[in-house]
Amino acid sequence: MIWWAAIALFQQTIALDIPSKNPNTSEADVAAGKKLFNGRCAGCHGPAGEGGKGANLAVPRLTRAQEDRALYRVIRYGVPDTEMPASLMDAHEIWQVAAFVRTLGRVQSVAVTGDAANGASLFKGKGGCIGCHTVGLEGGRSGPALSGVGARRGAQHLRAKLLDPSASVPENFRMVHITTRDGKTIRGQQLNEDTFSIQLRDGADRFHSLWREDIAAITSERKTPMPSYKGRLSDSEIDDVVAYMASLRGDQ
Ligand code: HEC
Ligand code: HEC
Repeated sequence: MIWWAAIALFQQTIALDIPSKNPNTSEADVAAGKKLFNGRCAGCHGPAGEGGKGANLAVPRLTRAQEDRALYRVIRYGVPDTEMPASLMDAHEIWQVAAFVRTLGRVQSVAVTGDAANGASLFKGKGGCIGCHTVGLEGGRSGPALSGVGARRGAQHLRAKLLDPSASVPENFRMVHITTRDGKTIRGQQLNEDTFSIQLRDGADRFHSLWREDIAAITSERKTPMPSYKGRLSDSEIDDVVAYMASLRGDQ
């Protein structure tokens, strides 16, 4: 008991050890932070923080990191269950990157052209997105919920996802094709697996849990069922859908 209490106290001390204000914000720190950012972050967030695979950081207010200490934690530990990774930089370097990230919010980010309201009707109508994606409570579940996607992804990435969806499929996304010993075949998105069983959701949104010993053959691929909208929607319709998605910031 005492030992546990000591560990808990120790962990709290470490947390309290993170200063509430960034201690490294000199011009030299920002310059060093920029270098680190270009090497480690720009691949996902874009060199000007405009967003891509990663969130748009060129905004006046970061949803997950309004306080300096929260920003430090996001960079140090990443965001669990997302592609935002933890980092191995030391505290000094993390603060330098954080100082640079704060400067991004002061520059104007690229404006999204397109009509979000028309994008919303395309999402439900012609685009058929609602069949696979929820926004708020409405929609299908074979694709991920898109309620906060405008805060998570930059506009460029959203556009690329519509034009060439298979170019960027998350590491953990797997489509599996299973043949059971009694001759049934099931194709769907893998949700989970362990030594004895595997769980998936098929195209009709049905959930399946199968014992491995009942499976005769299984193949898996990182291929998305999302269709490309190149040619299916016009350029201006693509702009509108992108504008709509960029407006989805998690408060639907
Ligand atoms: C492999 C891609 C990837 C890399 C590399 C990456 N990030 Fe991220 N980052 C993301 C994603 C995706 C999110 C959105 C997570 C979410 O909220 O769903 C994110 C979120 C963030 C946020 C929170 C944004 C907000 O609105 O609150 C900050 C800050 C951030 N990243 C900073 C960094 C910094 C600094 C680095 C480099 C040290 C970095 N990221 C490296 C993908 C990445
Ligand atoms: C047949 C089902 C299906 C349809 C239709 C579909 N999607 Fe998807 N979509 C998916 C699946 C599954 C994923 C997750 C795997 C991946 O990223 O490719 C996905 C991923 C996405 C992502 C990435 C989400 C993220 O968190 O990064 C976006 C954005 C997206 N879809 C938008 C749309 C839009 C907009 C439309 C309509 C114009 C649409 N989708 C139509 C199945 C679909």
